[in-house]
Amino acid sequence: MATQDEISLTYDWMDDIFRLSLGETADISGAYYDGDYSKTLEQAQQDKHEWILEGINFRPGFRVLDVGSGWGNLLSAIKRKGGYELGLTLSPVQAQSCRRNQLEVMLKDWKDLGLKVLGRFDSIISIGAFEHFCSIDEYLRGAQQNIYAKFFRFCASHLSQGGRLYLQTMTWGKMVPDPYKDARINAREGTDEKILARLRLFYPGSWLPLGKEQIVECALPFFELIDENNGRLDYIQTRKEWRKAADRCFIDCLRDPSKWTVIGKLGLNFFKDRDFAHRLKSYLCNDQREVFERRIFDHHRILFEKK
Ligand SMILES: C[S@@+](CC[C@H](N)C(=O)[O-])C[C@H]1O[C@@H](n2cnc3c(N)ncnc32)[C@H](O)[C@@H]1O
Repeated sequence: MATQDEISLTYDWMDDIFRLSLGETADISGAYYDGDYSKTLEQAQQDKHEWILEGINFRPGFRVLDVGSGWGNLLSAIKRKGGYELGLTLSPVQAQSCRRNQLEVMLKDWKDLGLKVLGRFDSIISIGAFEHFCSIDEYLRGAQQNIYAKFFRFCASHLSQGGRLYLQTMTWGKMVPDPYKDARINAREGTDEKILARLRLFYPGSWLPLGKEQIVECALPFFELIDENNGRLDYIQTRKEWRKAADRCFIDCLRDPSKWTVIGKLGLNFFKDRDFAHRLKSYLCNDQREVFERRIFDHHRILFEKK
């Protein structure tokens, strides 16, 4: 399981650029284009919220837990529609940002929480967090299935019968690589090995689920599968749009002296984080888009109902 320090390394450095390029409470996960790539990113993210809320049978007054709530876009959609939102994140800057926007959030790991603290929910949503629940060491020790089963038990114990869980996650694609042999930082630029090695540094403490089948198998003792669909192509489009928005934002920050502090803060990461150069290079080389295009990563959107 990625620790709070590891989650901070993954997300906190991008706080300013992310909020400036996409908005204060933007989503950092694949949008829902549903085959229509003429949509704007904003529209596709809004459509994702609508589609998820419909899937969980949302009604005003619903109490919804968002495990891994990021900068809080879904929390704010729930609140706007008359629901009660609670987010969990391990990133201090994300938690601060949610609180600045009057969204309910706890800087906590789900595995350290229980019914006494959280109470029950009408529905649980988790988007882009499942990827962080198992580390490479845990995978190599054979603990991955148990961790996922524990997560589904956690969700089931916080839902009433018939309550729905929406899960969106990246998984390994055409094959599950060997974490060490198939990821080599000194491999040639452009190779799968180089990209995988940089992504391992980008997401410290994290190892992807093996595939949709593994997830469903771990959930089945607690949940019935209601619906699922593949979001790989939508994620490729989302990544293209993020890159365009971030590039525009960088140029804007360079041109506008009042925003030079953003560039300065970003530069400070070279001193604070020994892997920051790899993190930045990974972004500049579009590694995250490339892995979906090469089918090294896949992406799943799964709706469950508590048995
Ligand atoms: C890719 S972001 C997704 C954020 C948001 N769901 C979205 O779609 O924009 C992953 C989120 O999962 C959170 N996370 C990862 N592991 C977690 C854990 N064990 N407990 C709580 N949150 C966790 C991170 O802090 C981060 O907010």
